[in-house]
Amino acid sequence: MSVDTTIRMGSLNLRTPLLTGSGTFGYGDEFGSIIDYSSFGGIITKSISLKPRAGNPPPRICETQSGGIINSIGLANVGIYNFIESKVDTLPMGKTEVFLSIVGDSVEEYVEVVEKLEDVSGIAGYELNVSCPNVRRGGLDLGGDKEAIAAIMSSVRTVTGRFVSVKLTPHYPVIAPVAQAAVDAGADALTLTNTLVGMEVDVERRKPLLGNVTGGYSGPPLKPVALAKVWQAAQVVDVPIWASGGMVNGIDCIEFLLAGASALQLGSVLFADPYAPGRILNEMIEYCERHDVTRLSDLVGKLETR
Ligand SMILES: Cc1cc2nc3c(=O)[nH]c(=O)nc-3n(C[C@H](O)[C@H](O)[C@H](O)COP(=O)(O)O)c2cc1C
Repeated sequence: MSVDTTIRMGSLNLRTPLLTGSGTFGYGDEFGSIIDYSSFGGIITKSISLKPRAGNPPPRICETQSGGIINSIGLANVGIYNFIESKVDTLPMGKTEVFLSIVGDSVEEYVEVVEKLEDVSGIAGYELNVSCPNVRRGGLDLGGDKEAIAAIMSSVRTVTGRFVSVKLTPHYPVIAPVAQAAVDAGADALTLTNTLVGMEVDVERRKPLLGNVTGGYSGPPLKPVALAKVWQAAQVVDVPIWASGGMVNGIDCIEFLLAGASALQLGSVLFADPYAPGRILNEMIEYCERHDVTRLSDLVGKLETR
């Protein structure tokens, strides 16, 4: 049985629902020749800001006993000018869809970065990171405030007609109001979720494992949290949801599709297994074959809750 893996979202037509989570695939250049893009729907770049950012003090990443990782990269990135000068040409345009993740310290910065990118052809869209836990501005402070998120989204909308997803934090106890605010402000999709705030302690040295003390907790332990946010948001908004949080195999991905996600971002799993997208796509296809599902997109939102 052949399974149709394509996913249509408004103006977008993705070859598969698999995307890379921002910050886990660089600008596409680092994985270079080892990647076969045929299993990808697209990539999302590391978040790009107006000015270059050095990021947080090392150590910046650690593993946890619970099977996750905590990172405090602190949005280190080359900044928009260097990005346009030296990174744009390395993006896998033509091989897969390319989405640029944008972060800023203010509404104006988000707008300025997007404006500069409007002249770059071949970009499928943007993901607005309003939820990074490792920096004060552009982080939870900004991401926690639905008025701020609406202001960022509606202002960005005035300078681009491209597809825009807004990436939210999992820290909201209730996701519906902020999800709705982002959509009302013009979001074409929502990304759920970014990382949780976490930390680990080295008791022998009585020191935190991360230079920044706390960081963003990701990987398998995040999955149930992200899954609940995807499902809750899918009950109230009618835009596609891009899931992000702890997926390591095809069955994890099927769970997110059933809960209402249309696209699936692979993040931490890529550090352990850069070939994960091909394996995971095959596992999803196997599930479809076992259940006589001819199109992956038919599974979206098909969770039976009663
Ligand atoms: C090392 C690392 C760097 C990250 N950098 C970014 C970033 O720059 N922008 C962003 O929106 N999310 C960033 N994230 C969050 C991921 O895109 C993803 O949302 C999160 O890790 C949850 O997915 P996962 O459990 O599959 O890793 C980063 C995650 C990791 C592990």
